[in-house]
Amino acid sequence: MLYPQEILEEVRMQNDIVDVISEYLPLKQKGTSYFGLCPFHNEKTPSFSVNSERQFYYCFGCGAAGNVYTFVMQMENDTFPEAVRRLADRANITLPEPQYTQQAKEQEQQRQRLFLLHKQAGRFFYEKLQESVGEEARTYLQKRQMHLNIQKKFGIGYAPKGQNELYQHLQKKGFSQEELQKSGLFLEKKGTKGYFDRFHHRLMFPIFDIQGRVIGFGGRILSSGEPKYLNSPETLLFNKSKNLYGLNFAKNTRKREIILVEGYMDMISLYQAGFKNVAASLGTAFNQEHAKVLKKYADSVILLYDSDDAGTMAAQRAIPILVQNGFHVKVLQVPNGKDPDEFIKQHGAKAFSHLLANALHYVMFQIQCLKQPYDFTQTQQKVEFTTKAANILAKLDNDIERNVYIAEVSHMTNIPQQAIESEIVKNIKKEEMTFIQDAQQQRKTQYSKNKKEIIKSAGILSAQKDILYLCASNIQVYHKIKTILSAEDFLEPIYQKIYEKIELLYQKSDTVFPAEMINYFELPEEQKKVTEIFAVVLHYNSIKDMEKALTEEVKTVKKASLDQLAAQAQSIEQVKKLVAEKRNVDSLYITIADG
Ligand code: GTP
Ligand code: MN
Repeated sequence: MLYPQEILEEVRMQNDIVDVISEYLPLKQKGTSYFGLCPFHNEKTPSFSVNSERQFYYCFGCGAAGNVYTFVMQMENDTFPEAVRRLADRANITLPEPQYTQQAKEQEQQRQRLFLLHKQAGRFFYEKLQESVGEEARTYLQKRQMHLNIQKKFGIGYAPKGQNELYQHLQKKGFSQEELQKSGLFLEKKGTKGYFDRFHHRLMFPIFDIQGRVIGFGGRILSSGEPKYLNSPETLLFNKSKNLYGLNFAKNTRKREIILVEGYMDMISLYQAGFKNVAASLGTAFNQEHAKVLKKYADSVILLYDSDDAGTMAAQRAIPILVQNGFHVKVLQVPNGKDPDEFIKQHGAKAFSHLLANALHYVMFQIQCLKQPYDFTQTQQKVEFTTKAANILAKLDNDIERNVYIAEVSHMTNIPQQAIESEIVKNIKKEEMTFIQDAQQQRKTQYSKNKKEIIKSAGILSAQKDILYLCASNIQVYHKIKTILSAEDFLEPIYQKIYEKIELLYQKSDTVFPAEMINYFELPEEQKKVTEIFAVVLHYNSIKDMEKALTEEVKTVKKASLDQLAAQAQSIEQVKKLVAEKRNVDSLYITIADG
């Protein structure tokens, strides 16, 4: 943990969860709880509740849950430390220097060395491009009309033909064998201790991180040949599924709208033509992680993939990911099967800006893709198309938008708007039903999926949750349970950790505050599981009833734990001992009231 618990708790207390969440969505008060439309799933009636007394939120629809940190992490795509800094800022609290572990410090040092190595490698390639060996590459750049200032800005370089020129260059600069190896820029010579440079006789594109540091390279072949592009492998610095090429430049436009292209050359070409809010996914399929990164800098995306089948398919796959992550999405396809780079070179920036202004709303793009195979002179095909189009339109939340596209489809097919509308209404109802069923199903199977045999039974699971809830609610219960259950008796690692934290929190005071407990967990999924425990209210008619229930639950958990030990036992002696212990569990009865 980067910051001490007291600080985390201080920052949390200074950011009332109702105030913070209200800055993102409207909430209505009902008793000590507040309700609103859940920002984490699509819904039309509020099932998102914020408990002001206990300072956590819980969605009865999708199960999203956590404290104020969890909420901010999910809304802003922050890591835990980022959320802490954001909320500290909000409350004008100055944070102490983060406390890194020894291991984290070493890793950070390694990363710094690799940044330096890549910087030097980039400089090496850049210089080679200017030397006489770089002539062919310079001619190539000229042919592709890349201006000198742009070459410089993007650090374009040339990897020479030799065997290991870069390797020797960096060795001389003082980089160790291990550092060179970890950079991904070299390949081991089979059977020897020597290394080859990964890139030979290629045009080099440095790949930047969001802060503009070089973290890898892409190299383009200068003639025809395979592979056309060769990229750095994944390293400590370079994560392909997160990186978007050129986003470091694009973000400076502060436009909140990004044009997403496929290739290095497309990105640079648009940038050169003055469309600077552009980034490239570099042939990797656009994924959730890309979306999360992009969300920090943009709310709208214009997908500008190649107009061939592969590009169209890639766009269709990217759309749901972007929509899910809350982007406004438009799609643009360059006419006549050209790629964006070719189009700009041929028709110029003005023509391109016309194209851009006419980018299609993604729903229209989906409907046009859908339309392709249908023959509208055949009534049956027209009906089939319209039914499927209604399915797409049903996913739109905005009524106005939906009406616009209903009109479009009606115009395309000559089917009256009303008929399309009623088809959509049917679809919406169906979808809501499936959603509710899915949510219920998910809740039922959430924990039993792929877990060990023992955890399969939902009974053991809810027993563990109830015990933790009761322990955290009442110090007397906890002291009693402590004599019977140890942390290892809980079958899920997260419950073990919660049980240990209960002990820790009781050492500080005689109440456990749920929202504080959540601070000990850094991942949103963990925070959600912790919150789930406290989001129920267990009610008993009398202490006796509570004791009875608790006794049964402790028995269940203890037995499951002993069963698991027995399954792993090495000797018959051990098994016998466990069986005896299990028999003792049967005669257990827990009393709280006697003190
Ligand atoms: P140019 O021919 O230089 O204009 O390339 P392009 O940007 O038009 O490339 P293309 O549309 O063929 O591919 C889009 C992107 O996919 C490229 O920019 C590369 O990042 C990636 N890519 C293309 N070919 C290869 C390949 O052979 N290997 C790998 N790893 N990536 C490739
Ligand atoms: Mn191209």
